[in-house]
Amino acid sequence: MKPLIAGNWKMNGLQSAKQEIERLIEKFSGAAPDDRDVLICPPATLIAGFAANYSDEAIQIGAQDCHPETSGAHTGDVSAEMLADAGAAFIIVGHSERRADHGETSDIVRAKAQAALRAGLTPIICVGETREEREAGEALNIVGDQLDGSLPETGAEIVVAYEPVWAIGTGLTPTLEDIGDMHDFIRSKTPEGTRLLYGGSVKPGNAGEILAITNVNGALVGGASLNADDFYPIIKAAPGAM
Ligand code: PGA
Repeated sequence: MKPLIAGNWKMNGLQSAKQEIERLIEKFSGAAPDDRDVLICPPATLIAGFAANYSDEAIQIGAQDCHPETSGAHTGDVSAEMLADAGAAFIIVGHSERRADHGETSDIVRAKAQAALRAGLTPIICVGETREEREAGEALNIVGDQLDGSLPETGAEIVVAYEPVWAIGTGLTPTLEDIGDMHDFIRSKTPEGTRLLYGGSVKPGNAGEILAITNVNGALVGGASLNADDFYPIIKAAPGAM
């Protein structure tokens, strides 16, 4: 399976952030890697400009969220069709920050994943347990319930990202064994061929060992995707010829 290294910029990035993508492309020195997919999900304001300028450079552009409906009276929201129109190829749905900050339930996440598919885009569906849930020995149950509730029924490509909430932005990561166990479990519950990303404090220093775990097919990277000096070694760490 071709690894997918995805950057989630969250609410970071002005127009000037294009310099960071240009620095990343420079590091590829013209020879774009074809044995791994590289994706950047900037804030919505940057999607169209980035997609227009960089999609030819083997960097795909994605979104961080969408509304389930195609159009209508939903002030401030953006539909999957609009994101497709802007040049996005993927949409992250169900990130724990949205589940927590916006009360997104698994039903809503599934509707958003279906919206992405309806627009011809690939949803990256996020799941993950909190620290309390892991300490209570509930991590597999919680993630299992999130998968049961959030995954759309489809024959089209989906991506699943396992992001333990307590590992996001904290510098903490599960043991390699715990990541492996969770990914084996997620593999058993997802359609064949689904790429499974690990996310939560992926850095240049730990990317190689995480990306080498069976059933880890890539990474969803927050903080370290914001600058090319950190993101490039993570992209390079994915198994392959690069
Ligand atoms: P982090 O974020 O890499 O900054 O921990 C990951 C994410 O939230 O997708």
